[in-house]
Amino acid sequence: MSPKQKSVFICSECGYESAKWVGKCPGCNAWNTMEEEIAVQTKASLSVYRTTQSVATARPLSEISFSDEPRFVTGIAELDRVLGGGIVKGSVVLLSGDPGIGKSTILLQICNALQQSRKILYVSGEESAIQIKMRAGRLGVESDSVSIMTETDVQAVCEYIMSEKTDIVMIDSIQTMQINELNSSPGSIVQVRESTNLLLRTGKSLGIPIFIVGHVNKGGDIAGPKVMEHIVDTVLYFEGERNQSYRILRGIKNRFGSTNEIGVFEMTDVGLKEVENPSAMLLSGRMSDVSGGCITCVIEGTRPILAEVQGLVTPTGFGNARRTATGFDYNRLNLLLAVLEKRLGIYFANQDTYVNIVGGMRLDEPAADLAVAMALVSGYRDIAIDENLIAFGEIGLSGELRSVPRAQARINEAARLGFTKCILPKACMKQISSTPKGLELIGVNSLGQAISIIK
Ligand code: TYD
Ligand code: MG
Repeated sequence: MSPKQKSVFICSECGYESAKWVGKCPGCNAWNTMEEEIAVQTKASLSVYRTTQSVATARPLSEISFSDEPRFVTGIAELDRVLGGGIVKGSVVLLSGDPGIGKSTILLQICNALQQSRKILYVSGEESAIQIKMRAGRLGVESDSVSIMTETDVQAVCEYIMSEKTDIVMIDSIQTMQINELNSSPGSIVQVRESTNLLLRTGKSLGIPIFIVGHVNKGGDIAGPKVMEHIVDTVLYFEGERNQSYRILRGIKNRFGSTNEIGVFEMTDVGLKEVENPSAMLLSGRMSDVSGGCITCVIEGTRPILAEVQGLVTPTGFGNARRTATGFDYNRLNLLLAVLEKRLGIYFANQDTYVNIVGGMRLDEPAADLAVAMALVSGYRDIAIDENLIAFGEIGLSGELRSVPRAQARINEAARLGFTKCILPKACMKQISSTPKGLELIGVNSLGQAISIIK
């Protein structure tokens, strides 16, 4: 390092910058995350930042017209929905997820879907051209409109994009990309941030959508600074258990559509297949007449999805009672147990309690409360709940059942999958304009009333 170069310490978790090293990051309170980087002289060294010699201008809103086709629709419906209706021109999409989850696969499938009509550049710093060709062949990508580049120099990539006028660019992955002028190694915070910035500016100035693959660190966050999430337009997260074939694509941030939207895929030997009916998938393999299971309906983005909650309650053998929640918030589980104890007198203090949501789903919506409580009581009493019953509703601390939005959509989905009984908050009944045929609605005011149905 020459004497003139200044170093700066940057938190690898949140991107907080400090002139001195500190053990605990003042930004996010994480320990031992400050890493030394060479301070970036952004303007001086990165001439390519200024892609066009334009003069700043401003136009009234009314003069700005939508171009004829602001989005590329890929035809992969699950992906298009998560993106808010297709790929927006000039947008930068960060695709993140655990290793081996299918990030590279879905990018190649986008190439497959768009190869007839678009020129696509696939930049890989991870795999050789031969490896990509083998996989691409398996996924049906064979058109000459898809070009593969194995390059890690972002400036070279951006120069190529500017000269070749591609329609879509895929970067796999940002942790392998680097800007040579910066004296830090690929994958470091500065490299990740500056490479993203450079790609973003290039993409925006030419109106080209760019997909960037980002790895996650051990904690499951996107590796590199949080600022990367702030820079890009859309953050998609691929989740799922590696040993299961189902994959959920979740929108975490989207400047061009709603977040919370999910797309469900299944990994097969010919790539990712869309799952059009996630409720049926999540309920398949269910056993009837077993205690501790209850079906609920949550709204994921715009879609109602049925999910199975399982509760297992066993006497504690030794020491403190264990509580485990998979796919459900641990603190929320403790809260529900407290309500069950205080308001209904069902004691779990000497019982190990496990909650599991089947199929790798995560239920974050309060509407899942009722099904979790019912599954626990059913597990505790060892009495099976009617297999044709679903339950949803938020539980308050007084044991009351509170209204949740979109009750009509939830009961329609339940009826579509052949359920015949639905327990829901009484307050939701006025949202319902038409009761689906064959579905009996049981409106209840309190958790106690709902529980009394388990017998
Ligand atoms: P990949 O897209 O390489 O994951 P990432 O880029 O997120 O690290 O996916 C790799 C996994 O997917 C690998 O375990 C093999 C599996 N796979 C299939 O099962 N079928 C397929 O058709 C493809 C392409 C991959
Ligand atoms: Mg990959």
